[in-house]
Formats: sequence, structure tokens, C-alpha cells
Amino acid sequence: ENVNQVHRTGYHFQPPRHWINDPNAPMYYKGLYHLFYQYNPKGAVWGNIVWAHSVSKDLINWESLEPAIYPSKWFDNYGCWSGSATVLPNGEPVIFYTGIVDKNNSQIQNYAIPANLSDPYLREWVKPDDNPIVNPDANVNGSAFRDPTTAWWADGHWRILIGSRRKHRGVAYLYRSKDFKKWVKAKHPLHSVQGTGMWECPDFYPVSLSGENGLDPSVMGQNVKHVLKVSLDMTRYEYYTMGTYDKKEDKYFPDEGLVDGWAGLRLDYGNFYASKTFFDPSTNRRILWGWANESDDPHKDKDKGWAGIQLIPRKVWLDPSGKQLLQWPVAELEKLRGHNVQLSNQMLDQGNHVEVKVITAAQADVDVTFSFSSLDKAEPFDPNWDKLDALDVCAQKGSKDPGGLGPFGLLTLASENLEEFTPVFFRVFKAADKHKVLLCSDARSSSLGKELYKPSFAGFVDVDLTDKKLSLRSLIDHSVVESFGAGGRIAISSRVYPTIAVFEKAHLYVFNNGSEAITVENLNAWSMNTPVMNVPVKS
Ligand code: FRU
Repeated sequence: ENVNQVHRTGYHFQPPRHWINDPNAPMYYKGLYHLFYQYNPKGAVWGNIVWAHSVSKDLINWESLEPAIYPSKWFDNYGCWSGSATVLPNGEPVIFYTGIVDKNNSQIQNYAIPANLSDPYLREWVKPDDNPIVNPDANVNGSAFRDPTTAWWADGHWRILIGSRRKHRGVAYLYRSKDFKKWVKAKHPLHSVQGTGMWECPDFYPVSLSGENGLDPSVMGQNVKHVLKVSLDMTRYEYYTMGTYDKKEDKYFPDEGLVDGWAGLRLDYGNFYASKTFFDPSTNRRILWGWANESDDPHKDKDKGWAGIQLIPRKVWLDPSGKQLLQWPVAELEKLRGHNVQLSNQMLDQGNHVEVKVITAAQADVDVTFSFSSLDKAEPFDPNWDKLDALDVCAQKGSKDPGGLGPFGLLTLASENLEEFTPVFFRVFKAADKHKVLLCSDARSSSLGKELYKPSFAGFVDVDLTDKKLSLRSLIDHSVVESFGAGGRIAISSRVYPTIAVFEKAHLYVFNNGSEAITVENLNAWSMNTPVMNVPVKS
């Protein structure tokens, strides 16, 4: 096997080889979590797309099955693209997916059902002959019409969304059905936004206004808000808004003050795309899956024999403020925690970096709370930065440029002499009326390797600083650093390819390059064990 394993992840989801992209139709059925995903069974580049299929009891250890959906009919002969599952009230799952019907990538929507409902593995899927369920009409752009959502039910009708665009306007078309078979396009889309381009992989779901529990897709009412997330083909970022779903008009209205477009809230400010949530009735959580592509030259993907990972599934819920979502890696991940190292009340003066001696710094979970005694030294916020993406602010300021309050944080996947490191850090700024907190995951110093994409991913996080604390959790796994700032108020994922800082040559440090002293109040780091990852199910 000529698969180069240096950058292979240890506990992130991936098959043994070949290309993967979007997570599809995640669901819980008869005691098992199912994950399907876009997969090229023939190589490490995009193409020949089928739905690969894996199952898990805990979202962390995965067993693989044969592909569930693959080209076999006139209505999907050129590819089986992304889609979603709906678990009907009688417990039966149905998959909707996009079928490609010709060389021009013409798109229609199909359904598939399990051949044997008593098989908890749902190994075999049937595509009935009354497919497709939706054909594009004359007003729809037939090569930009895909990625059906999970269905929800309201007032006698099922509904689904299909992502699309009309010229430059991103559109979520709405289709309705009484019987789950015959689907009719609604007069108006659920929502659309000028200038945002193709909306891939829309996701639309209710969130509770109180507490962290997830909701079934059809829950509506007083205590509920809705979330609409889309993946923007143009920028390769996703954005979401919260708002009101008016089921009479069948329209979605984002809340006042939220930005509807590429400058809006993101689920992740880094490498995270085509994400999808599902409701897990066994634990009452809503769980989010997202895909992280490689950030190196596609030739290297071919050399290593694989490309793409799924990030760690995250629980999502509404922040009590109602102004954003919160996210946290599913608790099951903590079962993989091994050797533990702690730091407490560790002072970091300007210029300090202190090693955290985890056993496997290349495969670790770190959770740290920093504190400081004053906000006075926060650097001024340049009003021109309001026009920039946070990533550009991060690029200007970096992790080394001395600041006031920050930069401080972690140096992950660092070589001993810091020729390579991926810093994940905060910088606090003082704007006219408030403080602005930047979290940055800066890949620019991550590798001495050539032809890599090394973006300075960053986002501003809306966090209350009255207790003068900032927390950070980073999931480090060889070629990915997945970070959660301020208790899940922001997430940033980076793919990085160190050449020196690999395996036991990878180190982990806490650092501060700001003039305000920082205290590591409490830090826990764990070496992470390797789960069962896509070993075939024994039949
Ligand atoms: C998103 C996407 C979807 C499409 C699928 C094809 O990454 O482009 O819109 O269904 O991937 O693999």
C-alpha cells in the first residue's frame, strides 16, 4: 500500500483511501448512527460520485459498509450527489438525493428507501421506478438545482428545500407534498439573496429558545427559532442566519441585525463546507457534520492516496442571547482521551512560550482557560478593518507581532525550534464603543512545505469579557486543527501539513506576545487514542 500516512488523521472520520466530500443524510436508526458521504471509489480526486456508507454506535468509532447509493438508473447515471434523510413518523427513513442525468450535469431529485427495514445497518437501498420526485421546471437553472434537505411537516404538507441560483441570486426553492410522493413547487422560494451565487447544501431547522436540546425538524411554535444555513459556492464558506419561519406564507425572515450574505455568521471560519445537521432522538441533540477538504496541491492528494476528512461531529444549539449558535464537539469524543497533562495558574509574560508535554502532541485534545487582570492594554481597532474579512486582520497582525492584550493562545503542531507551528490565538482590540475579540488559526507558519494553501483563518467572536477570561479548545490531529473559542461561540478549522512537526516531533505550547500578562488559569491536554475508523462491518 503506497499510501503516505504522515498527514493522515488519527481520530477524524475518513475512509482508508480515495476522495471524499460532503456528509450526506446523517441519521440515527435502530441504535446506530449512519453517515453517508460523497465518495470517489476510483481515486483521490473528485469524480465518479457515489454515496459511501458507514455506521457507528457512538459517532466516534466507525464501521464501513458497501456504498448505499450509486449510479444505476437513467435518473442518476452520471452521479449521485448530495442529499438528506427524513425519518418519517412511522420510523421509516427516506433519502432524497440529487441525480445527475447527463454529461452537462443536469440535476433532478430522487428518493431511495431501505430494502429491509429490519436491518439496522440499512445495507441495501432501493430507488423505486416512480423517480424522480422533482424535475426542474422551465424557470429553474437545471445545472444549479441540487442538495435536497430533510423534510419537515406543517399544516398538512411535507416540505423540502432545494439549493439553486437565479443568475447571481442564491435561492432555496420550496417544494410541498401531501403524501411524500408527489412534490409541487411553491410559488415563492423559502428565501433568496441577491449576489450570493449558488446555494449548495441548504440546511433548515428549528432551534429551541431555551436550553441545549435539539428539536425534530417539524417542531414549530412559540419557543422556537429557525436556522437557515447555506454553502456558498463562490466563497467556499457557509453562512447562516436565525429567523422566523412563517408557515402560512411559507417564507423565512432572518432576524433584524443579522447579515444575510457572505459577511454573515459562519458555522466555522476555516475549512468547513457542505455541512449538514440531524436530530438525534436518542440523546435529544442536534448534531452537525462538516467536510474539510485538503489544502495542498491535488497532485499530493494523488500521492497520498486520499483527500478530505469529516470534522468531529458537533452538538449545536442556540445561544441564550438568540443571536448566534453555539457548537461543541460531541461528548463521546472524550472517550478517546488518554494520557492527561494539566497546567494551572501558569503566568505568561510577554514573549513567553511554555511547553505542554502531552505524549502525542500531533494527536491531542486541549482545553484551556486564559485570564488577565485588565482590558486596558487592548490595542485600538482600526475602523478600516470593518471592511475586511477577519482573515485579513489576522494576516496583518499575526501571532508574533507584539500586541497589548494578546496575541496569546496555543502553538499547535509546532517543531521544537519553531520552524513550523500553527498558532491558535486571541487578540483583543478596543473599538469606539466596545472590545472586539479576534480568534485566529494561522496556517501561514504551519509548514515549510511548498505549494500549500496556508490561510490565516480568523473570526471575531461576540463574547462578554467582564470576567476577564477567554477559553479555547483545540482538537489537533496530524493535519487538522479544529478550534472552539469562548465555549463554542466560534469555531475555526485549519488543514496543515507540517514537514518537521510530525508524530513525536510535534510539540504543543501556550504563548503570549502581548504586553498584558496572561495567566493560564487551567489547562488540560490529552493524548488522543485512535478509534476504529472505517473497518468493514463483519457480515
Ligand atoms: C458541495 C457539492 C454539492 C453537490 C456535491 C457533489 O460540495 O458541490 O452541491 O451535490 O458537492 O459532489
